[in-house]
Amino acid sequence: MSRLMGLAILTLGLVMSLTACDQEPMANQPKYETYEAAPEWPDNQSARDPVAGTVPRDAPVELSVSDTLPMPLTRELLERGQAQFNIYCSPCHARTGYGNGMIVQRGFPSPPSLHNDRLRNAPLRHFYDVITDGYGVMYSYADRVPPHDRWAIAAYIQALQLSQYARFEDLTKEQRAKLPQQDSTATETTTSAGGPPMTRPLVPIIGLVALAICVIGAFYDWTAFLRSWLVASLTWGRCRWVPLPY
Ligand code: HEC
Repeated sequence: MSRLMGLAILTLGLVMSLTACDQEPMANQPKYETYEAAPEWPDNQSARDPVAGTVPRDAPVELSVSDTLPMPLTRELLERGQAQFNIYCSPCHARTGYGNGMIVQRGFPSPPSLHNDRLRNAPLRHFYDVITDGYGVMYSYADRVPPHDRWAIAAYIQALQLSQYARFEDLTKEQRAKLPQQDSTATETTTSAGGPPMTRPLVPIIGLVALAICVIGAFYDWTAFLRSWLVASLTWGRCRWVPLPY
């Protein structure tokens, strides 16, 4: 039995050493070393030119980009641009384009206003390129915003710029007629959170009522006194900053 085992181990060892030997020719097959001469080619060089039309690995995907809007300027395109601008750009540039978006308010470097003279005169293509390649500390949005949306955003930015610099003379007669008339007699109003506008005198009245409840409450229960005092001071003292529940 042990003789059979010995034979088996011997055979296995033989097979393994044979297969190991088999590896040798694979590692050593005919090939050119870098820049080695190659008499098979007319120019005697092993380094061949890349095939015509070869694209480098890090080349931009689009080889030629139009300088002008490559699609018709429609309301739909601008609305798409607005939606994508609000999603991707407004966190920094703000929906208005003035550059004080939420991330900037939390410490990210402040972008320039899109309404400065240089950017107002920049060609449409500039906005497309900034989205594609990034600009300074702003990183590229090429992987999130496809080319069609880049044009839509670029077009929307120019509409946004126009919105801040529209001149009265540029409006048609009908558009001028639609402008709200300046009304100097309008009364000052304050708005409660999400609610209808509320005239100011109402606020002190509510504060006074709360104060009265507070004084009456103090006779019965001092915690009631504290609670109503809080309500009174919030409504009366800070009514302009605290959103009121009515
Ligand atoms: C995370 C913040 C951030 C977001 C999001 C962002 N930007 Fe910017 N952007 C910047 C900053 C910061 C600069 C200024 C970069 C600099 O000058 O180094 C800038 C600069 C720019 C400029 C001015 C380039 C110039 O010529 O001065 C344009 C145009 C612009 N961004 C467009 C966009 C658009 C379009 C989007 C949305 C697709 C976008 N940005 C999203 C932060 C952002």
